[in-house]
Amino acid sequence: MIEVRRQAPQGRPLADAPPSVLGDPVDFREKALRRKLIAGNWKMNGRRADGLALARDLAGRAAAEPPAAELLICPPATLLMGVAEVLAGSVIALGGQDCHGDLAGAHTGDIAAPMLRDAGCSYVILGHSERRIEHHESDALVCAKALAARRTGLAVILCIGETAEQRDAGRAHEVVARQLGGSLPQGLGAAELVVAYEPVWAIGTGRTPTPADVAEVHGHIRAELKRRVADPAAVRILYGGSVKPGNARELLAAGDVDGALVGGASLVAEDFWAIARAAG
Ligand code: 13P
Repeated sequence: MIEVRRQAPQGRPLADAPPSVLGDPVDFREKALRRKLIAGNWKMNGRRADGLALARDLAGRAAAEPPAAELLICPPATLLMGVAEVLAGSVIALGGQDCHGDLAGAHTGDIAAPMLRDAGCSYVILGHSERRIEHHESDALVCAKALAARRTGLAVILCIGETAEQRDAGRAHEVVARQLGGSLPQGLGAAELVVAYEPVWAIGTGRTPTPADVAEVHGHIRAELKRRVADPAAVRILYGGSVKPGNARELLAAGDVDGALVGGASLVAEDFWAIARAAG
């Protein structure tokens, strides 16, 4: 029987924790119904030879030992078509790392959602903190991009997450709620939306929140989704930020965690595969 219970943050005994702190209980039956998604964000890494070799290696592992989790890799744009060829017939899906809010036009250097579809993508990562920070992307811009993705039939992995300063100031909940509210177009549902909670201070640093901290923020995101999408229980919420083979199992087991968005470790086939296997 699947146990349904509240997840107490930071190991606090359940009876001592006031309901306002706990938020809604994690429904482990619903969690079991959400197939885990392990997504690799290659960021600005990879040339043709090593990128295709990595994709080939992963496709070979997936064919030999089909994973329980859904697998996705998001290479840089230059590698999309080559990787798509490598992945033909594989269970591993392909995604882009960004798209423009317009479907075509005079936008030098940008890539449009229909181009990603044309290259073989089924997903696109949007609102990654590296784009929010380095390219000054606002919630409104991310929302426009998500609409373009939706019109094109791409599922969106919407990234949200607080900085260290915001967390230290006790504003993590407020920040993720604001980002979610501002960048999520109306009417998006679980079939076309995945949320990725990526605390900025955990990305590429080797530091991670505790599984209890992750569960707590994911519970808050789930509660926010209830106000914003028709099927909130079905939307997958990924954790991202220094996910490695050594910490994947405990992070993936945390309440309301439905997968991982993996950066550095997704560039090493063995590591990405170990994380995929930790998903069950
Ligand atoms: P790292 O796994 O390298 O910390 O990156 C996480 C990330 O930003 C994934 O999108």
